[in-house]
Amino acid sequence: MSFISAATAIIDLDALCSNYRLLADKAAPAEASAVVKANAYGLGATMVAKTLAEREGCRWFFVATIAEGIEVRSVLPDAHIGVFYGANHAEDAAAIAEHGLIPVLNSLEQVSVWREHAATLGKSHKAIVQVDTGMTRAGMSLEDAAQLAQDASLLAGIEVAYFMSHLACAEMLHHPLNAKQAARFKQLEALFPNAKFSFSNSSGIFLGKGFHKDLVRPGMALYGLNPTPDERNPMRVVVTVQAPVLQQRILTEDECVGYGATFKASKGARLAVVGIGYADGLLRSLSNRGKAYINGYTVPIAGIVSMDLTVLDVSSVPEGVIKDGDMAELIGTHLEADKVAETAGTIGYELFTSITSRVKRVYK
Ligand SMILES: Cc1ncc(COP(=O)(O)O)c(C=O)c1O
Repeated sequence: MSFISAATAIIDLDALCSNYRLLADKAAPAEASAVVKANAYGLGATMVAKTLAEREGCRWFFVATIAEGIEVRSVLPDAHIGVFYGANHAEDAAAIAEHGLIPVLNSLEQVSVWREHAATLGKSHKAIVQVDTGMTRAGMSLEDAAQLAQDASLLAGIEVAYFMSHLACAEMLHHPLNAKQAARFKQLEALFPNAKFSFSNSSGIFLGKGFHKDLVRPGMALYGLNPTPDERNPMRVVVTVQAPVLQQRILTEDECVGYGATFKASKGARLAVVGIGYADGLLRSLSNRGKAYINGYTVPIAGIVSMDLTVLDVSSVPEGVIKDGDMAELIGTHLEADKVAETAGTIGYELFTSITSRVKRVYK
């Protein structure tokens, strides 16, 4: 059955591939992976991973959880799939090994869980070791990494594919933490002179060659968000969210719009009711602040975004230009995701990962 009268997210796979190419070219000779956790930031992990693998030759993918890794494995039998959460229990280790996933080991405890699992199988197992260089989130300390360097038995049966760290402020070119993390990363490299390393997220790729190491791990820039927020966005728009006009009305007297009667509309105002709400991921904080783009016009959201419906004030659009059933863009080429997120008081990552399963993903 085919129907279109609901909110839709159109995912431009050509733009995704072109973004991957731009990042991979910039990072070369480092290899470019793709971070596809959280359902590829809401875009659909299996479709994104399969497309990047088949069309661009991407070989490395990163997810947060084992379940996400298993999902990507179901479409890519041969890819390297890193799991950021690592393994805290023998059961986690067994599931990771069963599906051929690669744990990111974030502590000496996780190293020992993986080492013990490798010992039960009697063969060497790949892993990535994450070291914290200043983000103070996941990852072991440099001191713990030094222990691994000094005592080879701690990594017995573990083949470390990469030592990695994560940047906290890469999108701020001149933030002093970038240099501090880079200096600590050098200490990590000195501990393991023959190893391979991974440091940069999307924004890190734009910090210069010194941050590229052997493998970069972009996420947001693949999906069209701006990795260099102080400059023009070099990435192509990948995501367009649109919703249908369900009904239009012309006010015959002054009225208030929506829950809480927060928007005052005058007699003669023209309103369009669109089929999208916070249950679709249109953030409620866009109430009375956000905008939509329809048939060549940018119009304001009038009143509170409700669960399934949002009202647009289309008084500025000449009569007859909008027909019931026309689609209004809420995020896309005319309403940049980063800007919409800023208006909503958040970041593009949250905007995208908030798009719920009710919104049909259409790949083009
Ligand atoms: C460890 C790690 N590496 C890479 C990424 C990708 O970051 P970004 O989406 O900013 O490119 C993330 C995402 O948060 C991450 O947690």
